[in-house]
Amino acid sequence: TANAQWGGRFAGGPSAIMQDINASINFDKALWRQDIAGSLAHAAMLAHVGILSADELAAIRAGLAGIGAEIEAGRFTFSEELEDIHMNIEARLSERIGEAGKRLHTARSRNDQVATDFRLWVRDAIDGIDAQARALMHALATRALAHADTVMPGFTHLQTAQPVTFGHHLMAYVEMLARDRGRLADARRRLNECPLGSAALAGTSFPIDRRMTADALGFDRPTANSLDAVSDRDFALEYLAALTILGMHLSRLAEEIVIWCSAPFGFIRLSDAFTSGSSIMPQKRNPDAAELVRAKVGRVAGSLVGLLTVMKGLPLAYAKDSQEDKEPVFDATDATALSLAAMDGMIRDLTPDAGRMRALAGSGFSTATDLADWLVRVLRVPFRTAHHVTGRIVSRAEARGVDIADLTLEEMQAEEPGITADVFSVLTVDASIASRTSEGGTAPVNVRAQATAWLARLEKD
Ligand code: ARG
Repeated sequence: TANAQWGGRFAGGPSAIMQDINASINFDKALWRQDIAGSLAHAAMLAHVGILSADELAAIRAGLAGIGAEIEAGRFTFSEELEDIHMNIEARLSERIGEAGKRLHTARSRNDQVATDFRLWVRDAIDGIDAQARALMHALATRALAHADTVMPGFTHLQTAQPVTFGHHLMAYVEMLARDRGRLADARRRLNECPLGSAALAGTSFPIDRRMTADALGFDRPTANSLDAVSDRDFALEYLAALTILGMHLSRLAEEIVIWCSAPFGFIRLSDAFTSGSSIMPQKRNPDAAELVRAKVGRVAGSLVGLLTVMKGLPLAYAKDSQEDKEPVFDATDATALSLAAMDGMIRDLTPDAGRMRALAGSGFSTATDLADWLVRVLRVPFRTAHHVTGRIVSRAEARGVDIADLTLEEMQAEEPGITADVFSVLTVDASIASRTSEGGTAPVNVRAQATAWLARLEKD
């Protein structure tokens, strides 16, 4: 049978496969709250400008409230024949309230309707992800403050570089997450314009008040161009781009957790709550949650690339291709929310092995730079020369199988006669980290101040 919403033009109904490829109700039912909110705002505006009577508005309000209750209670029958959430709700409204329901779609198209619903959905999603990112920053800064003095090896090229503190390392991710939140806030600011009233593509001849609907839905203003408003999905792409970068950060931290809790490193231990065993190897405690966080960004990045590919080359204005915008956004949101929750759990859960980290922090000639810096500061040796002298001292230590601090003063003086016993005072890991007081450096005094400042800032937002 012909479609109830446009049956006038059609003698027959769609083939089964047409219905299958065309329908979006299976996933866009997730937009039901936004769709009802949009319809309520639209109806109130139509009544305000005299297109609907007060009675009709009242009937629409009651009808939509009833539909919301039906959906909430799982009593609503979603129909594939009605394609999407917009027509499912509109058809049910007419079923419930008759004529008034059929007036709701005046001065509106599904094109501006879905663009509005989806912006509202993404806006809520941004707020949810932002709250989770904030919570993770809080967890990181809390642990960082407690571990401002816990030394660990710092790496470049994953080779022992210089000692840092565990707190400093965790605070690095606080900074990354702060920028992620900045990107989300930025995307939110740009998306917060209301497409409603753009109608199909050209606007409408009815005397609508777009300010009113924009205000009612919490948008900053109506969109300025009707063609742009119904066709672009850059707001969803910006959101996915922000999630992808956030996911990349979480993936890096997840990778470090995997490395840190491996036996050869042994920096941290995850409890039973965040590990799983092996079906064959009884000794195993695998960091599966961290591995999955490391992996989830793959689907998030895939969502970004997928939607970009859908959108490229689409002529203005609306085309059904745009219906493919929702699943990637829903999936990326789920993956990111789960990753943030799992990471938050792991950060709270993990137990650092301070002794092990300290022992490794002092290995691998990690204070060689401190020796070179001493030669520059005390003996006024040019840095490049100091680098060579220190390199030779490291070679000596390596040949003897000891650390540079275990060499005798005479062995050092063989490479640079000016060296005095004072040099040994800079060769400990504690001296090394304490000396890194430059702005943003790893000195515990810095880390404590940075973590404290962030915790105070996070309390306020
Ligand atoms: N389900 C559609 C979507 O998600 C709604 C818009 C349909 N518009 C149209 N002209 N067929 O994009």
